[in-house]
Amino acid sequence: MHQEYSPHTPTITAMPEPTTQQLKAWDRQIVWHAFTQMAEYEPLIIDQASGCTLVDIEGNQYIDGVGSLWCNVHGHRHPLIDEAIRRQLEKVAHVTSLGCSNPTTIKLARRLVDISPPGLEHVFFSDDGATSVEVAVKMALQYWRQREDPRPEKTKYVALGGAYHGDTLGSVSLGGVERFHAMFGPLLFEAVRVPAPDTYRTPEGIADDDLPGYHLDRLEGVLARHHERIAAMVIEPLVQCAAGMVVHPHGYLRGVRELTRRYDVLLIADEVAVGFGRTGRMFACENEDVSPDMLCLAKGITAGYMPLAATLTSDEIWRAFLGEYAQSRSFFHGHTYGGNPLAAAAALASLDVFEQEQTLAKLPKKIARLAEHLAKLAELPHVGHVRQCGMIGAVELVRDRSTKEPYPWEEKRGMRVCDHARSEGVLLRPLGNVIAIIPPLSITPGQLDRIAESITRGVAAATQEPS
Ligand SMILES: Cc1ncc(COP(=O)(O)O)c(C=O)c1O
Repeated sequence: MHQEYSPHTPTITAMPEPTTQQLKAWDRQIVWHAFTQMAEYEPLIIDQASGCTLVDIEGNQYIDGVGSLWCNVHGHRHPLIDEAIRRQLEKVAHVTSLGCSNPTTIKLARRLVDISPPGLEHVFFSDDGATSVEVAVKMALQYWRQREDPRPEKTKYVALGGAYHGDTLGSVSLGGVERFHAMFGPLLFEAVRVPAPDTYRTPEGIADDDLPGYHLDRLEGVLARHHERIAAMVIEPLVQCAAGMVVHPHGYLRGVRELTRRYDVLLIADEVAVGFGRTGRMFACENEDVSPDMLCLAKGITAGYMPLAATLTSDEIWRAFLGEYAQSRSFFHGHTYGGNPLAAAAALASLDVFEQEQTLAKLPKKIARLAEHLAKLAELPHVGHVRQCGMIGAVELVRDRSTKEPYPWEEKRGMRVCDHARSEGVLLRPLGNVIAIIPPLSITPGQLDRIAESITRGVAAATQEPS
């Protein structure tokens, strides 16, 4: 039985330390969780964490197999990052970025420019992945209007099928996940959609080797017809995470860069999910030697500690915004907490940890181990496909392996695998029928093994017919 709660219960204001039962009741009845059916929500209340282990209010431990939603990098409570935030707290917790600055955020901007692909020289801070994309979209539009040779007709954006760029309206307009986005249609601008180069569900008659060329030809067709009206193409480089970890074939990103350059279209790389080591390199674009015109960063930027995002851009774009006050060329966009110094301190410390612990150099062994586990998982009945890009793993369940027929999403097969894993102390989150494996980069081999073993048993439990 859930404890009854009325929002008018007076005991809430004079608050003694709540009991576990109270916390669970309030969590069910007051807190509105993101992307969660609250009528069915079973509270999972994490009270503490250390390394890759989370501990709930009842003392149960879980391996963090989703890196706190794809953003934890070095594990929880890393002493260097904890200490950096404490030290910043002794100076100042927040400084507005509207006409004002602070040393920590300036140092972070310098460092981001130093480590990002060549050509990105300026940093606009905001506070979440969606806002970093929103910034890029608006900046691109204003750039075309204000540059020396203005192109005000460039107001359209190309985005991929199944794209996910966040939940603000501009980001949702670019999004192509029908179940999340269709509802909001009346509020959105229309994106020019091109199909994603999906390496599992390939177009009929197209061999794997021809996949990048096939999709690049289609993109070229769109750009050739509409480039005069297209401001930018927005892409999740290498892996479209929310789409179900759709991994692009090698060469596609490089081809996109060449085409966008040829047709004078800006390239916005949304590395909110894939940035900061996730693909094995610091940034996914590095895997194909690509420099986008804008780079959107969030999630792992603070190693999963605090909300912070950044949109990096070129000097050419920056210069289009310079001028006299009365010319009104400033970028009219901002977020109260953009570039918050506590978050910037966490981000700087995270970059120190990358260097001190040689995080990237240690990845190849873990990536190989994840590959071994995925190869075994691929043999299970009802596993249609496994895919991997660096420390991103995915296991896709299908009703029929030969036809690739998916399970109807309402059957919650992916969720059932994750529920099983949770009962064994492994925290995962599905993307429909896809089980995503995105632990902190600091995960140990033993913990990776436990994640894979739990998924193996979870798949067996979740794919027994009927639904
Ligand atoms: C590629 C990508 N872009 C943007 C976002 C939105 O980020 P946030 O949830 O921080 O707004 C996400 C979140 O999952 C993402 O995966």
